[in-house]
Amino acid sequence: MAAAAAAFAAAVSLPSSSSISSPSPSLHKTCLLYPRGVAKAAVGRGGGVAPLRAQVTTEAPAKVEKVSKKQDEGLVTNKFKPKEPFIGRCLLNTKITGDDAPGETWHMVFSTDGQVPYREGQSIGVIPDGVDKNGKPHKLRLYSIASSALGDFGDSKTVSLCVKRLVYTNEQGEIVKGVCSNFLCDLKPGADVKITGPVGKEMLMPKDPNATVIMLATGTGIAPFRAFLWKMFFEKHEDYKFNGLAWLFLGVPTSSSLLYKEEFEKMEEKAPDNFRLDFAVSREQTNAKGEKMYIQTRMAEYAEELWELLKKDNTFVYMCGLKGMEKGIDDIMVSLAAKDGIDWATYKKELKKGEQWNVEVY
Ligand SMILES: Cc1cc2nc3c(=O)[nH]c(=O)nc-3n(C[C@H](O)[C@H](O)[C@H](O)COP(=O)(O)OP(=O)(O)OC[C@H]3O[C@@H](n4cnc5c(N)ncnc54)[C@H](O)[C@@H]3O)c2cc1C
Ligand SMILES: NC(=O)c1ccc[n+]([C@@H]2O[C@H](COP(=O)([O-])OP(=O)(O)OC[C@H]3O[C@@H](n4cnc5c(N)ncnc54)[C@H](OP(=O)(O)O)[C@@H]3O)[C@@H](O)[C@H]2O)c1
Repeated sequence: MAAAAAAFAAAVSLPSSSSISSPSPSLHKTCLLYPRGVAKAAVGRGGGVAPLRAQVTTEAPAKVEKVSKKQDEGLVTNKFKPKEPFIGRCLLNTKITGDDAPGETWHMVFSTDGQVPYREGQSIGVIPDGVDKNGKPHKLRLYSIASSALGDFGDSKTVSLCVKRLVYTNEQGEIVKGVCSNFLCDLKPGADVKITGPVGKEMLMPKDPNATVIMLATGTGIAPFRAFLWKMFFEKHEDYKFNGLAWLFLGVPTSSSLLYKEEFEKMEEKAPDNFRLDFAVSREQTNAKGEKMYIQTRMAEYAEELWELLKKDNTFVYMCGLKGMEKGIDDIMVSLAAKDGIDWATYKKELKKGEQWNVEVY
């Protein structure tokens, strides 16, 4: 497991100020030794410096028979229920946002002993320890799985999450800590964690290895896309070799809150023809009109290209994160579709039917 943990550490992105809760001191060392050279070039992404880009082919794709992502014989849902959860163990818990980021996000890995057979894009439930104000056990909270089915250690025996610590001030001016997110972010290696699921079919990956996969994430909404991208670019599978176009848009408040940035840049280096990466750093970047750089603002820079891609029947859009992003993205699609005399609401319905428009926002 130590070698596997080191392999994980070599791949996972850590800001220089990361906190690490790890059972292995050598893991800590490995993380800090990870080369960070290329990472720097991207902070200004979209901020004026033209980054290297993969070329998008606009040729019509060869027709492939569409296989529903939901009709998957091996797909497991609800194997573990709240009354009898799987008891996993925390193997690693790492803060992946910088100290000056607004809020903390942690990446954590739990053991599953291969008993929680999930697919990329599914979620698990976590039941935090303790009881609620009525003395009843806490209810489960759902978290998108942030690892591929092979897991961060490549042995199909772990599951990873990307969790934002919820802290807010209520109407009475008191500071309130979210129950489960704080439980998870405070977990120490070796601690038990009650896991339910896996659940969810909406965010499963398309089966076509030549598909165009457009991923739209805000904050921790990146979780399912890290899973997709590890499968596409960091792993070898006998029955799956990604040769399409994966295009990730990630919206975060500050550059110190860019999640898994170095991993994604490594992928971009490895597969420049198959992977595009665009960040929207809302509190540091603006568009030409001086507007806040939200994910939809960044997408608008590629509006025509995105619209062309959406007309292909092997383009799949996935959206995950803040609820507010859905309307923002719909708004730009409405105007794009209108240019072709298309009603976006109707078009989107068709895309949804064909599993080409997939949304999990909260
Ligand atoms: C399918 C799905 C996947 C998810 N995946 C992830 C994930 O990958 N990562 C992740 O971090 N989260 C994810 N979430 C959210 C997660 O389930 C929890 O809701 C989140 O962690 C907060 O839970 P908590 O127990 O910490 O907070 P709780 O103790 O449940 O408190 C949350 C409640 O606090 C109140 N509240 C919150 N903010 C404010 C505010 N600013 N002002 C006033 N009241 C407020 C609201 O009533 C809210 O319902 C996902 C949710 C879903 C449905
Ligand atoms: N499967 C799921 O359903 C799922 C999975 C994972 C996470 N989530 C949810 O996703 C959310 C992610 O939050 P987070 O705290 O991790 O994110 P975060 O770090 O706060 O980043 C969110 C980014 O989105 C921006 N933003 C705010 N309003 C927006 C809008 N209307 N349109 C587009 N962008 C907008 C924010 O900008 P400013 O802050 O500068 O305004 C910020 O840059 C949480 O609510 C989490 O529960 C859901």
